[in-house]
Amino acid sequence: MTIHTILRMGDPVLLQKASLVTFDNPAALTQLIADMRETMIAADGAGLAAPQIGISQQLVIYELNDNPRYPDVEAIPFTVLINPVITPLVNQQQAGWEGCLSLPGLRGEVARYTRIRVDYQDVHGQSQSMEVEGFHARVVQHEVDHLLGILYPMRMKDMSRFGFRDELEQHGVTT
Ligand code: NI
Repeated sequence: MTIHTILRMGDPVLLQKASLVTFDNPAALTQLIADMRETMIAADGAGLAAPQIGISQQLVIYELNDNPRYPDVEAIPFTVLINPVITPLVNQQQAGWEGCLSLPGLRGEVARYTRIRVDYQDVHGQSQSMEVEGFHARVVQHEVDHLLGILYPMRMKDMSRFGFRDELEQHGVTT
């Protein structure tokens, strides 16, 4: 397995719209997912999109179990979303703090839909659909944005709610 370098904001690959995954090389796809999981774990992240390791394809992974960066949210099992499309199921959005492995050390407050449906393909190319809410819905929206070339600061409405995590925590702005 390979732990990849994670691209940081400023790299143009992060601003590209990713290509559809075609499933013509299942072994390579399985290897890519395994490498992404290793990379995400090594970086202590909750999610990772393929463009973040320089592969501009519509594939994201996420997993949340007892992550010290997110102590107050429910565990989410390891999930792979391929060619995902989000449909909001509510009109309202809720503000919440996010971080991103491509902006190390930073956090920002972003409004996200509280409940969404995501249509996607699994690792076998089978069409799947699920409805998620709360923090899980936030993670999916953040990760799918990476496939559209969108980083979370581009979604922010109030840049006074953006800063370095250590300072925000020190001053009680985030926990
Ligand atoms: Ni991210």
